[in-house]
Amino acid sequence: MNHIVTGSDMPFYQPQGNETALFEHAASHRLPVLIKGPTGCGKTRFVEYMARKLDRPLYTVACHDDLTAADLVGRHLVGAEGTWWQDGPLTRAVREGAICYLDEVVEARKDTTVVLHPLADDRRILPIERTGELLEAAPGFMLVVSYNPGYQNLLKGMKPSTRQRFVAMRFDYPMPEQEARIVAREADIAPEQAEQLVALGNALRRLEHHDVEEAASTRLLIYAARLMVSGVTPLEACEACLVEPLSDDTETVSALMEVVRAYFG
Ligand SMILES: Nc1ncnc2c1ncn2[C@@H]1O[C@H](COP(=O)(O)OP(=O)(O)OP(=O)(O)O)[C@@H](O)[C@H]1O
Ligand SMILES: [Mg+2]
Repeated sequence: MNHIVTGSDMPFYQPQGNETALFEHAASHRLPVLIKGPTGCGKTRFVEYMARKLDRPLYTVACHDDLTAADLVGRHLVGAEGTWWQDGPLTRAVREGAICYLDEVVEARKDTTVVLHPLADDRRILPIERTGELLEAAPGFMLVVSYNPGYQNLLKGMKPSTRQRFVAMRFDYPMPEQEARIVAREADIAPEQAEQLVALGNALRRLEHHDVEEAASTRLLIYAARLMVSGVTPLEACEACLVEPLSDDTETVSALMEVVRAYFG
C-alpha cells in the first residue's frame, strides 16, 4: 500500500488522449473509474498523476487472489492492550476523501464485491460489518480500479453488475511520438535514440508470435533506454529488456533478436 503525501512532486505524465479531462469529469461527479490496458502502458502512472492533480491522497492496493474484503476494510488486531480495530486502505480512503486505487482488481476474492458495490454506486457507503459502522464516503473519495484484459482467465472475474458501476477507459501503448517523449524523459536518453527504441518496440509489437503473450511495454522500452544510457550496448540492452522478458522459447527469442538487429545491428 502506498500513501502519496501531497507535496510538490508531480509525476510526469504524457497524456494519450482525453483521459485526464475524462477522469476529472468523473471525479467531479463522484463516479468511479475503471482503467483497462496491457502491462506497462501507464495506468498506474496516470492514477498517480491524477491524484496529485486533484490534490487527493492516494491509496494503492495491488490485488492478488488471496485479497479479501477484510484486507480492504480492516480487521481487529490483538495487541498488548487488548483488541483494537485497524482500518484497511479502502476504509481510510473513504474516511479521508482519498482515491483508492485497486490494481488488477479482477484478481481479488469475490467477497470484495460486497464492499465495492455500495461504494461504487450513488450510495457511496461502506458498511463495516465487524464494527457495525456504516460509513458515508467523504466527498473526495474516489474508487479507481484497473486490470489487464489480455489475461483472459481474469476477464470473467468481473461481473456486469460490477463493470457497469464504472466510467471505463481503455489504455494502450502510446502513439510513437508520445512514447518516444516518455522514453526520452524517463530514461534521460537522447531523443533520436528514444525514437529508434520506440520504432523497434512497434516492430516487435507487430510481430505476433505464438509464444509472446504480451508485447514489449513502454516500461520495458524505458528499461532498455536506461541500460543504454549507463553504457550497455544497444544490442545487449534490447536483448535483456525487450526480448528475454517476453519469452522463454529459444526460437521466439532468436526471431525477436533478428528484429532487434535490424534496428541496432
Ligand atoms: N503516459 C505516460 N506518461 C509518463 N510515463 C509513462 C506513461 N506511460 C508509461 N509511462 C512509463 O512507463 C512505466 C510503466 O507504466 P505504469 O507502471 O503506469 O504501467 P501500468 O499500465 O500500470 O502497468 P501494469 O499493468 O503492469 O501495472 C512508468 O513507470 C512510466 O515510466
Ligand atoms: Mg500498474
